[in-house]
Amino acid sequence: MLKNKVVVVGVTGSIAAYKSAQLVSDLVKEGCEVHVIMTENAVNFINPITFETLTGRKCLVDTFDRNFEYSVTHVSLSQKADVFMIAPASANIIGKIANGIADDMLSTMVMAAKCPVLIAPAMNKYMFMNTIVQENIEKLKRHDYRIISPAVGRLACNDTGVGKLPDVDVLIEHIKHEIAHEKDYKGLKVLITAGPTQESLDPVRYITNHSSGKMGYAIAQAASERGAEVVLVSGEVSIKPPIFAECINVKSAEEMFNAVAENLSDSDVVIMAAAVADYTPDSYSDNKIKKSDGDMSISLKRTKDILKYAGEHKADGQIICGFSMETENLVENSRQKLEKKNCDMIAANSIKQSGAGFKTDTNVITLITEDDIKELPLMSKYDAANNILDELMKLKKI
Ligand code: CTP
Repeated sequence: MLKNKVVVVGVTGSIAAYKSAQLVSDLVKEGCEVHVIMTENAVNFINPITFETLTGRKCLVDTFDRNFEYSVTHVSLSQKADVFMIAPASANIIGKIANGIADDMLSTMVMAAKCPVLIAPAMNKYMFMNTIVQENIEKLKRHDYRIISPAVGRLACNDTGVGKLPDVDVLIEHIKHEIAHEKDYKGLKVLITAGPTQESLDPVRYITNHSSGKMGYAIAQAASERGAEVVLVSGEVSIKPPIFAECINVKSAEEMFNAVAENLSDSDVVIMAAAVADYTPDSYSDNKIKKSDGDMSISLKRTKDILKYAGEHKADGQIICGFSMETENLVENSRQKLEKKNCDMIAANSIKQSGAGFKTDTNVITLITEDDIKELPLMSKYDAANNILDELMKLKKI
């Protein structure tokens, strides 16, 4: 998704500069063309050779490099960059950009940039909280620079507080959010369910299923990269939520139902990727679990069908997509679900197919609408998510 994107990484004089090496390395692995520009102060913390080795390119340090080629590069690079990220950004570079000062290579190139500029401040907490630094940050925000909030934690100066450079995967998430996709979902609210539900039998035991949440989370990530406002209603999973989605954590089908019902009416697109447990104990009375001669019996009832409820309460222009997991008659059973639950599309997957299903990072999906059946080949859940969003966008525009 970042393949062939031109990313310029600006590194300034902060102890967190060592993390930029990991950032650059990960961006290169993503297939980006990475160019690194360092301030003179940054060179005190990390050697340009590190970046030159990682990128295979000259690391630019100051504007007045005697090599003619570089001075030409600095203008053309500003024009061809897809995104600029300054990480770590010191109070000094923040102050310079906010006040229109361009007295070295990095500040000059930022001033000439046409692309989004992401700034990740990293400094001592007292410096960060300084009112002048804060005013500069507010000014940069007003001028459409994207400020990535520093993390809270133990700082290099032994203080604890705000000012840490966020983890590299968070920085890369921000870049992806900015440039990985065209923003065709901008202005749309997408409601997604993901993961399993847990139905408590007693304080210790529960009924659940093997859902990992990976498919729903991939849809949430792709939709937010495409500009949507995403609400992700998630059962218990062990993966990190996408940072740009509003995540509502639930346990039971009842809680998932309530969270969906609350967010349903103003959602433009609804995608139910959760594996809702089909049954839940039918009462919380003492005789719920009966034990006799070592055997146990439980009285169960069906959980509320959340997708069916959404279909019954479909708002004008709203598009609803359900999932279906089948062991046989994939298309026929999914078509029945499409009709029964009043959906616009069912993303069907066969549990039996290798590379498809709960725990894998890949899936094999068939997209079924009233008039069409589209079989997708084996692909990553992220690519499958984008295919689902493509099809839903087509339905939305009809
Ligand atoms: N679903 C739901 N609420 C439930 C059960 C399922 O919202 N109580 C949704 C799932 O999120 C999925 C779709 O319905 O989008 C189909 O789920 P699936 O388990 O395949 O079908 P069921 O309706 O449960 O029917 P069955 O298990 O009998 O195939």
